[in-house]
Amino acid sequence: MKILGIDIGGSGIKGAPVDLASGALADERYRLTTPQPATPQAVAKTVGKLVRHFKWQGPVGCGFPAVVQNGVVRTAANIHSNWVGCTVEKLLREATGCPVSVINDADAAGMAEVRFGLGQDHPGVVLMVTIGTGIGSALFVNGRLVPNTELGHLFLKDEGIAEDYAADSVRKKKDLSWKKWAKRFNVYLAEVEKLFWPDMIVLGGGISKRFDNYAKYLKSEAPVKPAALLNEAGIIGAALAVQDVG
Ligand code: BGC
Repeated sequence: MKILGIDIGGSGIKGAPVDLASGALADERYRLTTPQPATPQAVAKTVGKLVRHFKWQGPVGCGFPAVVQNGVVRTAANIHSNWVGCTVEKLLREATGCPVSVINDADAAGMAEVRFGLGQDHPGVVLMVTIGTGIGSALFVNGRLVPNTELGHLFLKDEGIAEDYAADSVRKKKDLSWKKWAKRFNVYLAEVEKLFWPDMIVLGGGISKRFDNYAKYLKSEAPVKPAALLNEAGIIGAALAVQDVG
C-alpha cells in the first residue's frame, strides 16, 4: 500500500509516495517553497499543488510543525498565528480532494525511525529530537508514541526556551561553531535526561546529516545517534500517520 507523505516545514513543503511495507519512497521526492506569509490558505494551496504534481488520488499523511490534536492545530511557535484553532485536516482535504491525516512533524519523523530506522525493536524509552528552525520531540515507550510532547519548549533556567537557545536556526543566525552549538545543545540534553531518562536519543532534522561535525562534543547519559532515515523521516512518518492515527 502506498500513501502520499508530506512534510510541511517553515521553508519547504516536501512530499513523496511512500511504500508502507518497506518505508521506502516510491517516487522521487518533490519540494515546493513554503509560501510567505505561510497562512493556512496559502499553505493549503501549495499542498494542493504538490498533490496534483503526483496526480495523487488516495490517502495523504502530513507532518505539521505544531501541536495537532484531533485534526486541529493548537500552537504556532514557528508558524503563522492564524493556524491556531485551524481544522487543518478539513482544510487540506478540501484543497486536495483527498482524505488527509495530520500529525506533529517530530512525531512523524519519530514514527518513521521507530518503524524503519534506529528505533526498530528498541525496547524502553526512545526520544527523537528534531533540530531545525525549532526543536521538535517524539517520545516512545516500547514503540508507542506519546503524541505532541513539545520538549523543544522546555524552559531552561538560565537560557530560556530551549529551541530559542539551541535550534539549528540559532546556530546559523549566531554563526556558532559546532563546539559552541553543541555546548548549548548539551544544556538541553541534560535537562531532558533529568526529566525523562530515555534509553536512546535519536537526532533528526537537517543537522542529522552533519552528525560527524558535532558528535565528539555531545555529552549525555543515553546513547545519542543520528536518524537512520536522515531527512526523509518526516515524509515517511507522515505517511505512517494515516495508518496509525487517521
Ligand atoms: C513546534 C513543534 C515542532 C517543532 C519542530 C516547534 O516550534 O512547537 O510542534 O514539532 O517546532 O518543527
